[in-house]
Amino acid sequence: MKSKATLTLVCAACAAFCGPIQPPAARADITATLDVEVNKPGPAIPKTFYGLMTEEINHSYDGGLFAELIQNRTFQDPAPRGRQQAAQPRTLPIHWSLIGDGKASPDRENPVNPALPVSLRLDLSGGKAGVANDGYWGIPVKPDTTYTASFYAKAGGDFAGPVTASLVLDDGGGVTVAKVDSPAITNAWQKYTVKLATAHDAPSTAKAQFVLSASGNGSVTFSLVSLFPPTYQNTPNGLRPDLMKLMADMHPSFIRLPGGNYVEGSTFATRFNWKQMIGPADQRPGHMGCWGYRSSDGFGLPEYLLWCKQLDAEPVLAVFAGYVLNRQHVDAGSPEMAQYTLEALEEIEYVSGPADSEWGKRRAADGFPEPFPLHYVEVGNEDWFDRSGSYDGRFTQMAKAIRQRYPQLKIIATAPVASFKPDLYDDHFYRSAQQLVKQAAQYDKPPDAPLKFNGGAWNGRQPDGVQTFVGEWATQEGRPTPDLNAALADAAFVMGLEKNADVIPMECYAPLLVNVSPPDQAKGYPKAWQWNTNLIGYDALRSFGSPSYYAQAMLGQNKGDVVLPAKLTITPAPATERPAADQPARPVPTPAFASATYSNAGHTVIVKLVNIEKEPVDLTLNLRGVGNVDPSATAIVLEGNDPKAVNTLDEPTKVTPRSATIDNASPSFRHTIPPLSFTVLRLNVSHP
Ligand code: AHR
Repeated sequence: MKSKATLTLVCAACAAFCGPIQPPAARADITATLDVEVNKPGPAIPKTFYGLMTEEINHSYDGGLFAELIQNRTFQDPAPRGRQQAAQPRTLPIHWSLIGDGKASPDRENPVNPALPVSLRLDLSGGKAGVANDGYWGIPVKPDTTYTASFYAKAGGDFAGPVTASLVLDDGGGVTVAKVDSPAITNAWQKYTVKLATAHDAPSTAKAQFVLSASGNGSVTFSLVSLFPPTYQNTPNGLRPDLMKLMADMHPSFIRLPGGNYVEGSTFATRFNWKQMIGPADQRPGHMGCWGYRSSDGFGLPEYLLWCKQLDAEPVLAVFAGYVLNRQHVDAGSPEMAQYTLEALEEIEYVSGPADSEWGKRRAADGFPEPFPLHYVEVGNEDWFDRSGSYDGRFTQMAKAIRQRYPQLKIIATAPVASFKPDLYDDHFYRSAQQLVKQAAQYDKPPDAPLKFNGGAWNGRQPDGVQTFVGEWATQEGRPTPDLNAALADAAFVMGLEKNADVIPMECYAPLLVNVSPPDQAKGYPKAWQWNTNLIGYDALRSFGSPSYYAQAMLGQNKGDVVLPAKLTITPAPATERPAADQPARPVPTPAFASATYSNAGHTVIVKLVNIEKEPVDLTLNLRGVGNVDPSATAIVLEGNDPKAVNTLDEPTKVTPRSATIDNASPSFRHTIPPLSFTVLRLNVSHP
C-alpha cells in the first residue's frame, strides 16, 4: 500500500529545526511514476566525475581565489579601457596614489631584477608622504586579523629611516586600523616583511587602502608590494578561505587547469607560458591575460597545484597547443610546434614527475616534493575555432609525443581529429535553460541522426567509443550569477550526464568564480567581471554560492557508485519543449526529470528529481528488486517560488537547500516533488 510522504524540513545551512511545511496540492492533470531497478546496476560512476574549472577571468585568481590584496603589485598593469572617465588624469601606476607632501613616479632604472622592471619611487620633501594601493575594488579589513605585508625597498639621498606600512580606511575619514614600522631602509634593494594586526573593535569593511609611508628627505623606491590576509590552511602565498570552503563543499575530484581561453592567450607572447609562472614571486614577470586585464601570475602553476592539493582534487592539465585566440597557429612539424611539444612534456613532468627529475625538482623547490596524480592531459582548448584545419596535425604531433613518454595518460582532444584517436573529446555547452533541459537526454542512446559537431558540441555519444569530457557548460541565465531556473536546468543536465557515466567520465561547470564588484566611476575602474553567468560570486570581503552552486554541491555530495536504471513515466506524455510565445499552450509541459544511483557504503539508493514547473508533481516511486526500505529517509531540497530568484552579497542564502525527513519510504511510495525544485532523496535499502 502506498502512503503519502510527510516532509519535515530542516535548514541545512544551520541545522536548525525549521518546522513542518505542508506541501501544496499537486497537479491533477498528470500522473508520474518512477521505476528504479535497484537490482540491475548500470555503469560505474568514476571517482573523477565531478570537477571544477575556471581560468583567469572575472578576477578569478587576482582579486579572487589568490589571497593577495594588492592590485598592480609590480606597477605594470595597463590602465583599463574606459579610464578616461576617471575624475583625474593619473601619472602613477593604476591603483596607486600619492599621499602627503612629496612626489611619486614609476622608475625603470636599476630594478630588483629583470622580472620586476618597474619600481615606484617616492621623493620626500621634509615631511611625511606615502603611496597607497586601493586593492581589488577595495582592500578588505576585519577585526582581530593579522596581515602579512612585504615589499622590496631601497633608500636614496639622505633617507635612512623606516617605512610605515598601514591599513587606512578609504571612507573619507582616513582612520588607520593597523600600522607597523619596518627596519631602517638601506640603499641596496632588500625585501622587508612585516605583520599588521587589527584590533578587536576594527570595522569589517572592504573600503580600505594599504599605505607605505616615510618621513624626512631623500627618496625610497619600492618593488613587488604584497599584502596577504590569513589564507586557507594558513599557507604562505595562499588561497582565500571562504572561496576554498565553498569549493570544498562541492566535493570536486579534479580541476581542469589552466583554461579555457587562458591556456591559449590572445597572442603567442601572452599564451600560458608556465615556465614564467613557477618559482618565487619575484621571478614571475606576469603577463597580459586574455580577458582584458593583466595577470600578476602570483597564481601560477604551483598555486594551481596548491589548489588541487588543498581540495584533494587531481589536475586535468591542459597544455598550450600552438593556437592563439587571434586565430594564428603554428603548423605541425615546425620548430615552434616542436618547442611547444617539448614544453608540454616538461610541464607534465613538473606536475607528475619524481622529485629527482629535472622539472619534478623545480616543483619540489616550489613546495611540492610529492608528484601529483595525473591521469588526463588536454591538448589545447576549443580548437574548433581554428578554421585552418591545423588542429589535426598539431594534436597528432603532441598526442604521439605524450603517448610515447607517458603511455598511461588519457589524452583529450578539443575538436574533431582524424589522424590520432583521442581517449576523450572535450565538449562545451553554454545554453539557455530550455536548451539545456532538452539536452539532458542527448547521451541516453546513440543519436538517430548521424553524430553532428555543431558550434563546438556534439549531439550525442561518440560512435567509436571515444569518451566525452563535458569540460565547460552552464545554463546562461542570471548575471553575473545564475538564478533558480538555471539551477534546475543545470541539475537536469548533469543528471543526464551522470546517467551516462560510461561515456561521460567527467564534467565541470564553467566559469566557477566571479568578482561581482561594480564599476568605480570616480576612479575609472570597470566592473570586475567579463563573463555573464558564473557559479560563485564575491567581492573583496564577502562571497556567496548561486542557486546553481548549491545544485552542483548537492550533486557532488550525492554521486553514488553506480547508475541505476530509472524510468520516469508521465501520463499523459509531456511535450518535449515549451511552446513558442506565438503558439497555443500545450496541455502538459515537461515538468520533471529523474535519475538514480546507488552508493555501496550504507546501501543507499540516491534518487534525484527536478521539477521545472510552478506546480508540485505527485510521484509514485517504485524501487524494484529491494528487500526492505528504511521508512525514514532524507530529502535535500533546493526550491523557491520565483524562478528568477538569485543569491547576492547582501542575500547570500536566499536560495539554499534544506534537509527534510521522509517517514514513509518503502519499496513503493508516493512523494510530492515541490514546484521549482531539485530534490535528492537518500533511501537506505537492504537486498532481498
Ligand atoms: O568559460 C569561458 C570561456 O568559454 C572559456 O575560456 C572558453 O573555453 C569558452 O569559450
